[in-house]
Amino acid sequence: MQRITAIFPLGLLLVACGDVSEGSAGSDTAGSDTAGSDTAGSSTTGEAAAVTYWRDVKAVLDAKCVGCHSPGNLAPFSLASYADASAVASALPASLEAGTMPPWPPDAACGTYLHDRSIDDDARQLVLDWVELGAPEGDPADAPPPAQAPEPIAFDIDLQLPEPYTPTIAPDEYRCFLMPWPEEAETFVTALSVTPGERQIVHHVIAFAIPPDQAEAYRALDEADPDPGYLCYGGPSGGKINDGRVPWLGAWVPGGAPGDMPEGTGIKVQPGSLVAVQMHYHTYPGAGPDQSRIQIRTAASVDRVAVMMPFTNPAWVQGSEPMLIPAGEAGVVHSFAADVSNYLPLLFPDGGLQAGDPFVVHAAALHMHTRGVRGSLGLTGGQDTCLLDIPRWDFNWQGSYQLTAPVTVRPGDKLRLECEWDNTAENQPVENGVQQQPKDILWGEGTGDEMCLGIVYVTGT
Ligand code: HEC
Repeated sequence: MQRITAIFPLGLLLVACGDVSEGSAGSDTAGSDTAGSDTAGSSTTGEAAAVTYWRDVKAVLDAKCVGCHSPGNLAPFSLASYADASAVASALPASLEAGTMPPWPPDAACGTYLHDRSIDDDARQLVLDWVELGAPEGDPADAPPPAQAPEPIAFDIDLQLPEPYTPTIAPDEYRCFLMPWPEEAETFVTALSVTPGERQIVHHVIAFAIPPDQAEAYRALDEADPDPGYLCYGGPSGGKINDGRVPWLGAWVPGGAPGDMPEGTGIKVQPGSLVAVQMHYHTYPGAGPDQSRIQIRTAASVDRVAVMMPFTNPAWVQGSEPMLIPAGEAGVVHSFAADVSNYLPLLFPDGGLQAGDPFVVHAAALHMHTRGVRGSLGLTGGQDTCLLDIPRWDFNWQGSYQLTAPVTVRPGDKLRLECEWDNTAENQPVENGVQQQPKDILWGEGTGDEMCLGIVYVTGT
């Protein structure tokens, strides 16, 4: 659905491509349509190679890789043409076998989700066999018809970051930008899509709706920062304002589908609100400024009002039961379970819910910082249901996952959240070029703090 057009020269990207050096040796053939067939070795000449690029592999790469691996995009090399893919073929098996590419953190044993980016065993094997055979090209006439693009979403609000911005903090900068919400009547957001301005550096985007009564406090954050927008690691205020209840409108990661909310549902936005967009930039020397675009579809009414509910142990946040992650320790686990059916109507006054009513979970997300290694969210008590399990937490690949079968939570069911951290010297991030040392960690919004937060998209039944 997101056909990526080549915006930036490929040469620029290959320079940065240190960890695929075996593959990039072939980069001199990239860009030439005819050179590719020479690089693939003798197996291309056989009239019936068992697996060929055109007949078998192109469709897999297009569906599972090219959303990120195309010229000018976030991933460090292109897999978008035969020349590009054959040049790096020998570098592909390691990450395919390790399951790290394509990046798709949820464990399939827990649940199934829409817009699944993962690759199935047959498709993976096809690519591995192709590499094994010397990456034969085959005949372009054998190519299957291109996959049908899904119906485009009709957006009615088109926002852009207020000004172009070039991040300076390496390796990562979290910066929020505010935009006035343009609607003058109460409306519901039913879909959201992000088009990054500078694809090479935009790692993820989360859009929040700042309610009118908090708009002034957020504007003050923006004014206090001399650069466009303001720094905001963690939440939309970077921990300066209690932002746990600020509704998410949507999240985007590269290769992600435009966020179409579950049919008939939407998140209410009041006139006078602000849209705060948190940009996670993967700062990259030489990349141009970014001015990403956010498109939103609204509806005057929806069948079921939705809310993105953050879920965690309030005692960790308040510090009365500290979420201590001791310096130097691995395998540190904290978990929490609670029946939220009494709390939900308070958080969610427009949802038509009374205390104790059942509700429906449509999508789930987890949030930890960089020392997290594993997280899960599920139901316990009444029913034992897994909602989301991320067995190898990667801060860089966060997302919200829409359940193919929404789950109804009934009185007696408790939401259960569990996170595990590794706070040893081997698992410390680099911040602004400085390798961090282990120290005792508690709950907090800063890069040196940790969080363990579940976020569920819920409606009434
Ligand atoms: C959602 C975006 C995305 C998709 C989809 C994706 N990649 Fe990647 N890939 C990346 C990024 C970004 C990197 C750079 C390293 C990183 O940030 O993890 C990368 C790096 C790689 C590397 C270098 C080694 C490594 O693991 O870092 C290989 C090989 C690779 N990808 C192969 C593939 C293949 C094959 C597919 C499809 C089956 C694929 N990728 C799908 C984003 C993606």
